[in-house]
Amino acid sequence: MSLSWPFSGVRQGGAKSRLIFALDVGSLAEAEKLVKLLVKEVGLFKIGKQLFLHAGPPVVRMVRDRGGEVFLDLKFHDIPRTVAKAAAEATRMGVRMFDVHASGSLSMMRQTVTEVNRVCRNEGLRRPKILAVTVLTSLTRDDLRRVGVQAGVEGQVVRLARLAREASMDGVVASPLEIARIRKECGRGFLIVTPGVRPSKTNWDDQKRVLTPADAIRSGADYIVVGKPIRDATDPRSAARDIVAEIEHATAR
Ligand code: C5P
Repeated sequence: MSLSWPFSGVRQGGAKSRLIFALDVGSLAEAEKLVKLLVKEVGLFKIGKQLFLHAGPPVVRMVRDRGGEVFLDLKFHDIPRTVAKAAAEATRMGVRMFDVHASGSLSMMRQTVTEVNRVCRNEGLRRPKILAVTVLTSLTRDDLRRVGVQAGVEGQVVRLARLAREASMDGVVASPLEIARIRKECGRGFLIVTPGVRPSKTNWDDQKRVLTPADAIRSGADYIVVGKPIRDATDPRSAARDIVAEIEHATAR
């Protein structure tokens, strides 16, 4: 991988701040154990549907109380007003990032951005980064065709990334293989958050479209999301440190 894009101008912090740990566990107690262990090793904790539906807003508060930052990965997709109001609640919870489906429309994304800006201004809150999910990594060309989308996966990813940019979203969640194309199309000021990353030390067991942390960063990712390789490691702390070292190495000039 020889591509080396300049990083986005909107991301802040060092290598550690670029590692997002996926808190994919089924209880508040398990989540708390991992947060205690990793709060000094990673930049953000990603909370998805399973943990949020099980534990609710207290899990976000727990991470924040322990000094961590949250990426609330609930992938909102609904009529514009409903998503905008949900986004306002995510903002009030103090999450650092959250996401919506770009396919929910330009007006859904625009209304979300407007509502979050309004709530932050009126209530003096910190403005979270609002990300768009383009095409889920589980979808194939055939899946898209069956729901009436004739474009191939990459064409649709780029189309939705451009739409998100037009709606003034802060960035996208994108698979490793889409980073370079999105960076080229959407420019430097657009955040790219990338799951599907496997450290060079691990076996690439369950994932097909993967890159190492170093390659994802060199391709232009601002943040990488890693779950299983840290969670299932004998020593999760040292697994996280190894990944941060890989990120550092990739960014060293
Ligand atoms: O596989 P791993 O545990 O590292 O995945 C971390 C997170 O990234 C999970 O929450 C998963 O839903 C998400 N992911 C994804 N697309 C992939 C792989 C993982 O969105 N291709």
